[in-house]
Amino acid sequence: MTRNRPTVWVDCDPGHDDVVAILLASHFCDLVGISTVAGNAPQSATTKNALITAQLFDLDVAVHAGADRPLVQASVFAPDIHGASGLAGPVLPELVRVVTPGHGVTALLEASQRHRDLWLVPTGPLTNIALALRMDPTLASRISGVSLMGGGPTFGNKTPWAEFNIWADPEAAAIVFGCGAPLIMCGLNITHEVLVSLEAAAAMRSSAPGSRGEFLADVLAHFATAYKDVFFTEALGPLHDPCAVLALTHPELFTFVDSHVEIELNGRHTRGMTVVDQRGVKGALAPNVSVAMAIDGPATVALILDTLRGLAALGP
Ligand code: BDR
Ligand code: CA
Repeated sequence: MTRNRPTVWVDCDPGHDDVVAILLASHFCDLVGISTVAGNAPQSATTKNALITAQLFDLDVAVHAGADRPLVQASVFAPDIHGASGLAGPVLPELVRVVTPGHGVTALLEASQRHRDLWLVPTGPLTNIALALRMDPTLASRISGVSLMGGGPTFGNKTPWAEFNIWADPEAAAIVFGCGAPLIMCGLNITHEVLVSLEAAAAMRSSAPGSRGEFLADVLAHFATAYKDVFFTEALGPLHDPCAVLALTHPELFTFVDSHVEIELNGRHTRGMTVVDQRGVKGALAPNVSVAMAIDGPATVALILDTLRGLAALGP
């Protein structure tokens, strides 16, 4: 089967699952750039983690530092899941790679001029994408679209209603969801089907010996354990962010429904919620988002782990 190899820009806040998203994008897409954003950890830390990933896996891609705070509200991080560094668990090598000069937002805009078929793949708060849309309102009509991890039609994780990436910068999310570009939303309803276990982490360690396999095993093991500590009764880590990449490259794993989605900005309980019109009736509001409503979880996990194993095997 000949696969679509989309041209993508990953905007991220690594973050354990962001690391996996970067690696999948490097393998299945033409990855033309990475920008970092404050989210799971401060921007200096997420930038370092993106650089470490690029270094360990020898990725030929520039990493640009982006926004260091949300548009309006104060910064919020996720140390409970990702650690204060954003990448707790693995022993990280000495950082040799350096950040590429030029703000992430400027670099993203320049890439959108060079690549007319560009997909933006945000896997953190949407601050950089919103800033880019504000700096250049023609961006929305120039790109192929935005495939993002965030939100969901059913439940949240930071609050009962709001998912972290949207909750961390709701004003930015409102700009992106209202921008008019084709949007794909991979939310918690499907990412919680893509679960990595401690057994999978151990299998990575034994089947991919070497520094890359060790790193990935530690990343996956920390993530699964943190989810047990914070959310679940079992050590199972939902690989959220890779879904935003696979929605482009392996759409057959997903079921999408075009729906109208808005970001709640004001609700005392529901700020940061992605409010989805799921009525499915004639008078439903005009769709602006292709919402991932279902995923083949086991097949997706198998694909992710196989891909990671292959990338690990190529390294020292
Ligand atoms: C999202 O929040 C972060 O902790 C993860 O990296 C993912 O992007 C899940 O809510
Ligand atoms: Ca993320």
